Amino acid sequence: MCGIIGYSGPLEARDILLTGLSQLEYRGYDSAGIAYFDTFSDIHVVKKIGKVANLKSICALETDTAHCGIGHTRWATHGGVSDANAHPHRAGKVTLIHNGIIENYHGLTEEFDLEDQLASQTDSEVAAWVLDRFYEGSPLDAIRHLLERIQGSYGFCIMFDDRPGEIYAVRSISPLVASYTHSGALIASDLTALIPYTRSYFVVPEHHIVKLTGYKISLMDLEGNAVSPEMMKVDWNMDSAMKNGFPHFMLKEIHEQPEALKQTILPRMAKGIPDFEDDRIPDSLFTRCSQIHIIACGTAMHAGMVAKALMEPVLRIPVTVSIASEFRYEDPLIDEKTLVMIISQSGETIDTLAALRLAKSCGSMTLAIVNVKGSTIARESDYVLYTHAGPEIAVASTKAYSVQLAALYMISCRMAFVREKFTRSEAKAFLTELLDAIPAMETMIRKKEEEKHLVTHLIQQNDVFFMGRGLDYAFSLEGALKLKEISYIHAEAYAAGELKHGTIALIASKVPVIAIATQEHVFAKMISNVREVKARGAFVILLTKEHAAVEEGLADIHIRIPDLDDRFTVFPIAVILQLIAYYASIGKNLDVDQPRNLAKSVTVE
Ligand code: M6R
Repeated sequence: MCGIIGYSGPLEARDILLTGLSQLEYRGYDSAGIAYFDTFSDIHVVKKIGKVANLKSICALETDTAHCGIGHTRWATHGGVSDANAHPHRAGKVTLIHNGIIENYHGLTEEFDLEDQLASQTDSEVAAWVLDRFYEGSPLDAIRHLLERIQGSYGFCIMFDDRPGEIYAVRSISPLVASYTHSGALIASDLTALIPYTRSYFVVPEHHIVKLTGYKISLMDLEGNAVSPEMMKVDWNMDSAMKNGFPHFMLKEIHEQPEALKQTILPRMAKGIPDFEDDRIPDSLFTRCSQIHIIACGTAMHAGMVAKALMEPVLRIPVTVSIASEFRYEDPLIDEKTLVMIISQSGETIDTLAALRLAKSCGSMTLAIVNVKGSTIARESDYVLYTHAGPEIAVASTKAYSVQLAALYMISCRMAFVREKFTRSEAKAFLTELLDAIPAMETMIRKKEEEKHLVTHLIQQNDVFFMGRGLDYAFSLEGALKLKEISYIHAEAYAAGELKHGTIALIASKVPVIAIATQEHVFAKMISNVREVKARGAFVILLTKEHAAVEEGLADIHIRIPDLDDRFTVFPIAVILQLIAYYASIGKNLDVDQPRNLAKSVTVE
């Protein structure tokens, strides 16, 4: 949430900041702003509600040169969407941008008597004023005093009026990465803004201060002692963060799924079965546990729901899935015999991170499935299995979901093998079936044009229902989320047998029902449920395997996926559900990649 960039160096700072903000815009796009030292070494602020394009057009009128500045793209938390609430905030000698939430801003406002000084309604401006009160010429002392007083999460980039060319940054929870490059010193809330300039970077450690100048970047602890940054390498290329000819990131990322799956699966195959030796994940992690607890948010949580339905019947141990924002405030029934699996694309989702910390404090073993290298969740969990989806830019998660599934399927297979629920040949067969799902996904992607007509009816409706049984129910949850988030159509997923316990009252003439029926052992039951909604006039879109026997006239639209073992149908089904959401968003002329009120990485509670 909120994109942050800072630059000091020989190049034109405004250009670098604005380009960086475009890269970071997926983190929040309510407003954007920059601040820079102008030719007279005065700080100049430009900020505006709306997207970065708005800001760019205003900045195009600026003529002076700048070599040091900070930029921000906002996802509103405290205070509405207004120019005043946009960052950067000026407070006396301080100019600051912030990602996170200052929880005690109200108390600080009273304590420092700031009410009359505030130009905005934001917690960030309060932090700026408190910092200014402490500033007597030493950025380090002032920042240290500020940190002693604020509670919450933050990534700050700060400039002081009397320190031209210098940027100071500090963080707690909210991510920041930094690098000194041939083009100068850069800091950002995530790597996408750095990759045009460098492959090497470091994650700013919490409660450490980074100082950027045009010729160097230095890291120190809060006492001012120099600390060596732990350098890391980016293994993404610029192309993967660009649209590459696709009209939207989401469509590009849907297309990237087969390749991403291969990247996640193939390097982890040894003698035909999953092997995590290179990930340093020992088999004892899988044999020691007596239960599994999966924790995540949104799409990642839905991947966990699929994993539960997949794992329990094979492993015969309880698998629980928790929503991270609930789990973190529970008194969970987990212990040192529990394997806690944390799933997160960004590795920065605050609720998921808090849940991880709680699980560790209960003595549980933790394994994170994460896409972004070096992210906080990846660093803090006992073990990490990286998915190799490359950067996912569209707010609606697509390829991250399918690689999370692939990772979970691999874990499930390895666990079944080491717990002697699968023989070697069963494990091999499982993996072969998993690999077969990749061409099945490709088939559905190739046929995408055929699916455009699917949405003609949907986009005229206010409500859509998804239903399925078993694994199909888990897939439905994700289908409904995807549709809601980018088409703004209300969508609900139901276990098909549950519909008649109340919700069927909403099924009237032409109400769309997307019925997923790929599980053979409940296929007949599913078809009965489809008949029930059809009898009430529903407009049925039915998704089955290629050779499923379906009577004429049952569905208004029938989509068939290649015949796969039931356990693997999620992969082609996911593509269809993603495409339905995508075309519905296009059909309603909405912003596919940056839907309203959302942001890619949710680093606030
Ligand atoms: O980065 P994470 O995987 O932790 O993010 C979790 C959710 O915020 C995310 O999956 C969200 O639900 C997506 N926008 C859904 O498309």
